[in-house]
Amino acid sequence: MLITGEHARPHVPWIVGCLVAAAGALGWFLVESVGQSAWPSGGSKVGLALGVAAGLICLFEFLLWPRKKLRTWRIGPVQWWLRAHIWLGLLVVPLAVLHSGFRLGGPLSAATMVVLVIVIVSGVWGLAMQQFLPSRMLDLVPGETIVSQIPHLSGLAARDGARLVAAVCGDQSTDDDDDGELATHLVVGAVRQVGALQGRVLLTSAAPSEPVPESESLRAFFEGSARPYLLSGKAGCPGLAGERAARAWFLEVRAGLPPAAHPAVAALEDLCSQRRQWDRQAWLHGWLHAWLLVHLPLSVLLMALLAAHVVWALMYTTHPIPFIH
Ligand code: HEM
Repeated sequence: MLITGEHARPHVPWIVGCLVAAAGALGWFLVESVGQSAWPSGGSKVGLALGVAAGLICLFEFLLWPRKKLRTWRIGPVQWWLRAHIWLGLLVVPLAVLHSGFRLGGPLSAATMVVLVIVIVSGVWGLAMQQFLPSRMLDLVPGETIVSQIPHLSGLAARDGARLVAAVCGDQSTDDDDDGELATHLVVGAVRQVGALQGRVLLTSAAPSEPVPESESLRAFFEGSARPYLLSGKAGCPGLAGERAARAWFLEVRAGLPPAAHPAVAALEDLCSQRRQWDRQAWLHGWLHAWLLVHLPLSVLLMALLAAHVVWALMYTTHPIPFIH
């Protein structure tokens, strides 16, 4: 969810509401502390009320998960849920801290507090990623594709490159090779910059109709470096992963080949630049989603700890809880 710039306005009532609630909770806590030798505990009237409020909000926060799974349910717009999730989630921090009376307590309360903090920090981190990464992605990855398709597209790029190289260097395919087809045309989604604008363009590059003499070094370069890079990205050939180093390398390859092979080198360079973008996209995509691998499982753990904390507090606490003792 975006919360900056033009998207900020609908968040304002939530921010104000949560600030007022936090200030109210602090005010009540301070009033209850007057004349006491220690901060009110979690079992005091104010401590218990703030604890119940924090716990109910945590439960509401967790309900975002089923809400997202059950999109067809008419239980409020998803945008409303997300806004409430962010700001009420942050409100839990002052409520939980005041509920604790600034004490960590026993191992169970301490563990609950630590997990709560990690869930909230991971949520803030994820929210920050959501503000920052999509626009970065547009800048850095004009040739964006569907991330799950990258391995398949990489295989196709390697196959197209192999056909082009076979057309330039002469076909050496054996019966074991995939199909032994030669390229006549190769379409590459290359990245081009015009002034300040960068974008993806489809380039068609014609393969030579006859093999080019003295072009064997192209096959060696393709098999040893470009094909592994197209197939596996940086892991396949780290030397082609950096833009500048790759450009220098391609210049060197071109210099060792007759001019008739140069368009094929340019097409391979475009294929590699496309692959570099996919790697970048996969990396950014990982950052955009990795935080949920912390946020979601730990929020499940938090629910379990909270339930245990409540049961333990009701049954075994040594502090007298008003309304119960
Ligand atoms: C008690 C605290 C919290 C709990 C139990 C909790 C739990 C959850 C759960 C269960 C989800 C759904 C995961 C999914 O998409 O499958 C979620 C998503 C999310 N949470 Fe939290 N959360 C908490 C606090 C926060 C806070 C404080 C923030 C940020 C300030 C936050 C930011 C997010 C974001 C950005 C998402 C993804 C929403 C989306 O765009 O789909 N969470 N959280």
